Amino acid sequence: MIRWEEKAIAQAAEKRGVKATLVDLKEMEISLTGAGANPKVAEKIVLQRCVSHYRNLYSTAALEAAGHTVVNSLRTAWNSSDKLLCTLALKRAGVPTPETHVAFTEEGAMRALGELGYPAVLKPAVGSWGRLAALLKDEDFARAIIEDREYMHPSYQVYYLQEYVKRPPRDIRTFVIGDRTVAAIYRTSAGDWRTNTARGGKAEPCKVTKEIDDISVKAAKAVEGRFVGVDLMESKDGLVCHEVNNTTEFKNSVPATGIDIPGLAVDYLASLDRR
Ligand SMILES: Nc1ncnc2c1ncn2[C@@H]1O[C@H](COP(=O)(O)OP(=O)(O)OP(=O)(O)O)[C@@H](O)[C@H]1O
Ligand SMILES: [Mg+2]
Repeated sequence: MIRWEEKAIAQAAEKRGVKATLVDLKEMEISLTGAGANPKVAEKIVLQRCVSHYRNLYSTAALEAAGHTVVNSLRTAWNSSDKLLCTLALKRAGVPTPETHVAFTEEGAMRALGELGYPAVLKPAVGSWGRLAALLKDEDFARAIIEDREYMHPSYQVYYLQEYVKRPPRDIRTFVIGDRTVAAIYRTSAGDWRTNTARGGKAEPCKVTKEIDDISVKAAKAVEGRFVGVDLMESKDGLVCHEVNNTTEFKNSVPATGIDIPGLAVDYLASLDRR
């Protein structure tokens, strides 16, 4: 199924006379050992839009090896599609980010929570749309949730635990293209503590202030992102960035902001082609 985003990007390309071909990874195989470019992808520049974590990472690696410029790159995908690696990249680059710990056993997780205090947030290192992210209100609640995870796939036993950031009932999603924050929205929650629009959070326009632009661009740079969605929260000490998204959605943000995000993305990709 072609999503709204990909249709909008294809239409923006057509409008500008930029040649673009939609390629479905499911219909594609890529030689890892063959010489030269992959015949199934004619263009040099590839905008990677796959939301499946492993397909995204491995197809990006294979396409880069075949000589394509992939936006976002393998390095960006690696450092942003995994929340744990993203936290490390943000920290390395000096971007304010919530206090976060990792633990690998139930007891380790309970010790980490003892340091973070309650409430705290548990998230799968790889995941999106707020899925399986849990607000741990107290020690009993935390133990129950973590005990459940012990019976799940081993990837859910990587306990990525974060301080609960006291913020208004909203977060901020910004869009960075190249080295510019082109748009921002507030995501206001509809009851759920998570503000994801996939969970009914409402998108409202947000002015790109200098503070928002600075932290967004710095966060994008931390993962070498070229077209990314940056998630920010308004903590009592100022803005903090909790993640960067390498295949960001913008279906709700275009009508909320009036900014032509797909058009700006195509302009940027076309400029790369001319370099
Ligand atoms: N440390 C925190 N403190 C308070 N609220 C948080 C915290 N971390 C996440 N949230 C809330 O939960 C939502 C989902 O968290 P996060 O963005 O980390 O996960 P996600 O599922 O990857 O989201 P996305 O759909 O952006 O990929 C956030 O938009 C925010 O509203
Ligand atoms: Mg997010």
